[in-house]
Amino acid sequence: ELWDTKRCTNRACKVNVVNRDVNGAVNILMLTKYSRGSLELLEQRDLPTTTRYVSVRGSEDAWRAIRDMTVRGAPAIAIAAVLSLAVELVVQGEGSQFSDAAQASQYIQDRLEYLVSRWTAVAGAEAMLRDDVAANRELGALGADAVACAAGVTAPLRLLTHCNTGSLATAGYGTALGVARALWGSGRLARVTCTETRPYNQGARLTAYELAADGVPATLIVDGAAAARMAAGEVDAVVVGADRVAANGDTANKIGTYALAVAAAHHGLPFFVAAPTTTLDPATRAGADIAIEQRDPQEITHFRGVRVAAEVPVWNPSFDVTPAALITGIITEAGLISPSRPGGEYDVPAFLAAR
Ligand code: MRU
Repeated sequence: ELWDTKRCTNRACKVNVVNRDVNGAVNILMLTKYSRGSLELLEQRDLPTTTRYVSVRGSEDAWRAIRDMTVRGAPAIAIAAVLSLAVELVVQGEGSQFSDAAQASQYIQDRLEYLVSRWTAVAGAEAMLRDDVAANRELGALGADAVACAAGVTAPLRLLTHCNTGSLATAGYGTALGVARALWGSGRLARVTCTETRPYNQGARLTAYELAADGVPATLIVDGAAAARMAAGEVDAVVVGADRVAANGDTANKIGTYALAVAAAHHGLPFFVAAPTTTLDPATRAGADIAIEQRDPQEITHFRGVRVAAEVPVWNPSFDVTPAALITGIITEAGLISPSRPGGEYDVPAFLAAR
């Protein structure tokens, strides 16, 4: 089933971003270009100035593409990983190299484990391929209502978001950005403030780009300006994505998310996490049990290969954990999860069991 390439092809072809070039012409940017035995990934590090694709011939290439941020965002990582394995298997002979199903299954299991080079992100790859865009649209519609209700304002909303959770991070539409898209589509969004999102600038390069392509009014800020933006009265609610949600609702997401939650609480603003159910990890008890990926110090000390920082030690976690108590609600395609336990904690396993 993992290399049911027909289905993968259909799904992958929907993985795209619509944008307009300087002349106003519409371009379709596909996250992946996939056909049986062949995979190319959009080189996201070059966006928004250059659009190019890199060839992925198997799981080794995909592992490097994931590690080096050619493809990023939890759902997109899962999609790239599984498609790369599909290509590898086709190139190797469509299963003829295995003596029986058990051997094939073991090989696939081993390669999938190998592919988890950015371990903070969790996602059910198969389910993601099948359902991601539809799930994101559900999530977006549901989230739009929840956020509008919690913000308690009648005028169109001003959202703040972090990192990139849109079409470039998922199979399409997006999670937190899907909520923004649903609000925009229903005339309930005034503006999105997007953070630059250091050190990889996913907000400046990718989120701002997606919002501009959709014609959504957007304002870009440096990460350190978020609390001041809230104090200035320019934010009604914060919506972010997730790389992993623990059983108690603690949420790992791009570094800086925790600071946004603290600032939102201080300003009395609703703070929502938008994530597909494949990102929920009921097997992980709490945030303290989530291993956080440390990135290369050069992401901070260097800019395009040139050192821009003094010679001191660097601490560069890719993600942080926002405590459940700071999260107003977790928006999924299966419904809104609200805190239900003492101390503002969530019961994610109970939510999953009940749906
Ligand atoms: O380091 P990245 O770019 O992979 O980090 C991405 C995020 O933190 C996103 O918020 C998260 O993966 C959700 S994407 C729908």
